[in-house]
Amino acid sequence: MKNTSIILALLVAAIMLVGLSACKPADSAKPTSIQASIDSGQGFKFFIISDPHYLSDELHDDKEAFNRFLSYGDKLIHYSEELIDTVTVDIIREKPDFLLVTGDLTCNGEMVSHKELAEKFKRIEDSGTSVFVVPGNHDILNPRAKQYFENTIWETDFITRDMFADIYADFGYNEAVSRDKRSLSYLVTPSEDVWFLMLDSAIYNENIKKNNPLVGGIINDSTIEWIQQCSKMAKVNNAEIIAVMHHSLVDHSKLINQDYTIQNSEEIVKLFADCDIRVCFTGHIHLQDIKTAKVDDKMIIDIATSCLIVYPNQYGVVTYNPNEGYHYETKRVDMKKYASNERIKDENLLSFEQYSIDFFLNKCCNTQNQCLSLMAGYLTAEEEELVRDIVTKMNLRYFAGFRNEMMDDLVNTEGYRILQSLPPCFNKAYVENILNDEISNNNVYFIPIN
Ligand SMILES: [Fe+2]
Repeated sequence: MKNTSIILALLVAAIMLVGLSACKPADSAKPTSIQASIDSGQGFKFFIISDPHYLSDELHDDKEAFNRFLSYGDKLIHYSEELIDTVTVDIIREKPDFLLVTGDLTCNGEMVSHKELAEKFKRIEDSGTSVFVVPGNHDILNPRAKQYFENTIWETDFITRDMFADIYADFGYNEAVSRDKRSLSYLVTPSEDVWFLMLDSAIYNENIKKNNPLVGGIINDSTIEWIQQCSKMAKVNNAEIIAVMHHSLVDHSKLINQDYTIQNSEEIVKLFADCDIRVCFTGHIHLQDIKTAKVDDKMIIDIATSCLIVYPNQYGVVTYNPNEGYHYETKRVDMKKYASNERIKDENLLSFEQYSIDFFLNKCCNTQNQCLSLMAGYLTAEEEELVRDIVTKMNLRYFAGFRNEMMDDLVNTEGYRILQSLPPCFNKAYVENILNDEISNNNVYFIPIN
């Protein structure tokens, strides 16, 4: 009897062991769920749009309340639809394989805006380009979702996390090979060679309680574990992972980085190095800027594509050649051509580049202007104007991705010489940062194959 019990116990233990090994993640075999439309060894092309901040026309008129709202910001919210439509025309013509959208899809997370934007993405997918999106800090549980009519600002419906995954189901979530349980992060494998790790870096769970949408971002601990699992899967399949998220992976400016760079930047850079993730496409800071970080001998590149609805109104284009690597460049929208073709009579659109520059110069230099007003005692009105002119021109070029020697003509001016003669101030530090940056032209970049 005793012997029979021992044999039975051994049998049960053996069955449990077999069962446990069957439950282990298949980290040595190719998961059957991975299907790629682009075979190994084939090249492809994708576009990147950052921060389109789409606002539905149904949520505003062009009257007092809406214009007051526009005057607070630097974004061409009132032309967000035309800007998306112009890029859509380029996509239908150029036929990239994918479109990546790095968050802040909507103005302030309005449900109507989300649903209309999803319709626009459907048109893009119908033309043969797969769309993959991640949320930004403006998109989910945003108590600032409003509509603007006459002189009044009214509430409008915002969306929850689950609604986001539902509205954009066809633009990433349904195609995902794996989804993180604790965030809206997911992994898609559209090419056998290159996979996209679409990361949700936004923090929105407390937004409604605090009645304030959080601007900063983080990658949570549980998401870190999930990224490690994705990386193992990619290594087994000989695929390279490219990360995509809204917030900056590393600081894009020494002066302005709080709430732009993810809170655990150092930890995630190290994680990416461990996982052999070399490239991360980001948005949020609205600057066209490329920065690198090094961990031992590994380099991680954070390519921030500038905001679509801020000058110079551009998007990223990446061409992957399996024998060479990734070629990144930016392309500016041709709104004048789009407006002419569509027979739009709006003069702002027909002379859009100048309109966008003027809008930027009027709205995007508040900090610099405040700093100048503090210097009233040091400068005559004429000198102040010369300094203002040079700082705003440099800022315009800085946002467009140019730095260092690409400012030489602006350095050789009276305004710059006066600025240099001033005591330490924000504008001096800001310009110093622009003239001593990591890369001079952030609109073109090449990443060789590993
Ligand atoms: Fe943002």
